[in-house]
Amino acid sequence: MSGFLLLTTVSVLGTNIILAQARLDSLKTVDDYMNICLDGEHQKSVPGPELGLVKELCSPWAERSCCSAATARGVHMDRRWLNFDWDHCKTLSPRCREYFLMDLCFYECSPNVGPWLVEDVRKIRNERFRDVPICKSDCENWWEACHDDYTCLDNWATGFDWSSGINTCPQGSSCRPFHQVYSNSSDFCQTLMGGSFRVADNEQDCFYLWFDPTYGNPNEAVARKKASEILNVTYKMVSHSSNHDSGNGAANTSGLTGMVLSAYFFHVLTLRL
Ligand SMILES: *[C@@H]1O[C@H](CO)[C@@H](O)[C@H](O)[C@H]1NC(C)=O
Ligand SMILES: *[C@@H]1O[C@H](CO)[C@@H](O)[C@H](O)[C@H]1NC(C)=O
Ligand SMILES: *[C@@H]1O[C@H](CO)[C@@H](O)[C@H](O)[C@H]1NC(C)=O
Repeated sequence: MSGFLLLTTVSVLGTNIILAQARLDSLKTVDDYMNICLDGEHQKSVPGPELGLVKELCSPWAERSCCSAATARGVHMDRRWLNFDWDHCKTLSPRCREYFLMDLCFYECSPNVGPWLVEDVRKIRNERFRDVPICKSDCENWWEACHDDYTCLDNWATGFDWSSGINTCPQGSSCRPFHQVYSNSSDFCQTLMGGSFRVADNEQDCFYLWFDPTYGNPNEAVARKKASEILNVTYKMVSHSSNHDSGNGAANTSGLTGMVLSAYFFHVLTLRL
């Protein structure tokens, strides 16, 4: 989930671990970091346009995506994508479910996670992302949407019983509302996906799970800046996409409240279903 860390079986092929690390070690330029997708079961090898996403869900990424239209359809139609059952305690509320769908779209489609990839060799992938800086406002909206939903584990990346092939609550755990499981929004966003996200200190250098594509992808400038830091090169603004020039691509979406994003998402969802 955008931190989708829900992996079933660890692949014990040592070669995969070596290959995953070699792939990440081979990234030498900012563009290298911008031109890879997470090495997972469904992601494409390199990001590119997916015109099929225009009228599909996960549509923010149509211009440049790591997921195919078929994957986006799977995310929305298959209630147990990657065999993960969000309703392991109780059916999620529609608002909370929307956020998990956005998170899944982000996980499968975002072309901007390169600088945060680390090896993680499992059945469904060889890499994961860690500490992607999620915007505080986005995190708070997600938390508010799921506040009264139920789960039995604080960290969905580990601890589930996968013996049936689908995650179920382990023996001895009990279902509690999210607001009892987590102390606050940051605890929720950082713990739930096992560290895939870190809540950003400011509203500039941070990622949005979802955005209105008419303003471009606000996460791209954030990823370029991070790649520059990793490589210790001067951050150069890119100008191929109109609204990234300021280096603060998030500016125009940060004003969108969660409700607007939510409404936008619902709109798309309704069109599709
Ligand atoms: C949120 O909860 C965590 C874990 O209990 C705590 O360490 C952190 O200080 C809290 N953050 C805020 C902003 O209250
Ligand atoms: C980054 O590069 C500059 C100039 O080349 C150098 O002075 C500095 O020590 C480098 N920093 C790191 C963390 O490598
Ligand atoms: C945000 O939108 C305004 C008006 O639509 C525009 O002038 C400005 O350049 C945009 N800023 C960014 C960072 O895209």
